[in-house]
Amino acid sequence: MPENRIMLDVLRGEARFPPPLWMMRQAGRYLPEYRETRKRAGSFLDLCYNPDLAVEVTLQPIERFGFDASILFSDILVVPHALGRDVRFEEGRGPLLTPITAAEISALNSETFHVNLEPVYETVRRLRAKLPDETTLIGFCGAPWTVATYMIAGHGTPDQAPARLFAYREPAAFQQLLKVLAIHSAAYLIRQIEAGADVVQIFDSWSGVLDDASFEAFCVAPVAEIVGKVRAVHPDVPIIGFPKGAGARYQTYREKTGVTGLGIDWTVPLDAAKALQAGGAVQGNLDPLRLVAGGTALSDGVDAILKALGDGPLIFNLGHGITPETPVAHVEAMVKQVRSATR
Ligand code: CP3
Repeated sequence: MPENRIMLDVLRGEARFPPPLWMMRQAGRYLPEYRETRKRAGSFLDLCYNPDLAVEVTLQPIERFGFDASILFSDILVVPHALGRDVRFEEGRGPLLTPITAAEISALNSETFHVNLEPVYETVRRLRAKLPDETTLIGFCGAPWTVATYMIAGHGTPDQAPARLFAYREPAAFQQLLKVLAIHSAAYLIRQIEAGADVVQIFDSWSGVLDDASFEAFCVAPVAEIVGKVRAVHPDVPIIGFPKGAGARYQTYREKTGVTGLGIDWTVPLDAAKALQAGGAVQGNLDPLRLVAGGTALSDGVDAILKALGDGPLIFNLGHGITPETPVAHVEAMVKQVRSATR
């Protein structure tokens, strides 16, 4: 592992100031150059599976802002797609899938899984070759629970009611679905690491809607399984878990899953985040809407995070993905403020 990737130092538990910096969804519609490439790509999934164009959009935010980390351009829903499910993205509507039935779960097709995902692995290989040496390359997958919510509902929902109901009504089929997703997500992350990813992140965007027992069974257990499988092959590769909305459960999530770093959303109080740093790096947690607003909303938010968490292992990031309406000038201002910060 190169010595000059400061994000890796932080993930080993060291403090760096100014902290390493990147943004979730940093390649995306707020960037004019992304919108230009997107027009050439055909569908969104065509873009994810086109190494030339996926490399191009992954590098755009690195070239513009010089972030410390680059996240592979892809989507969490390539996993169900590679397992044979119908997945589409429609302009303005987000992802649309054919809802899976209990009977269809055992018919999920693993045979061509890695063949289908080969363009993603090729993108990772080319990225590691092209990125500056000091830039950390992040691979990722969705956590089984979050991916399952889309597979069951067929689209995004505010409270994941279709998946919660399915889990209660069809517990055996639901457990089988989580199992299939955990096994394939682990294999997918291992291939990304072997193609050149330095770190992997597991996105559990909908972990905040579950009761205690369900959080344990649907979020913690499958992610612990993925972490165990990846560590068995690549013990030194840091794994970041991002259980968005986990609230009071962040601490136990880290302990029970064994993730190296913890992504925290913007609702996590900074004193609680400080306490979490005792167990390792935290990543976050600027409210993305402060970045949309700019001005003092932005500078005060950045300042508060740096003051509260800058002495410990911190990866500066947003508390969730950047939104398309964010002005590029506000991102520039944030980068400048973080980079020029002094203790
Ligand atoms: O962070 C990055 O820059 C890497 C790329 C990335 C995308 N999606 C690209 C994308 C990553 C890491 C994701 C993860 C993802 N995808 C998550 C987890 C993180 C989160 O946001 O909670 C989820 C839940 C998805 C599923 C998904 N993909 C949704 C709900 C949507 C629609 C919402 C939207 O912003 O349109 C997508 C589409 C998507 N994924 C876009 C991008 C750049 C926009 C589509 C487009 O460009 O037309």
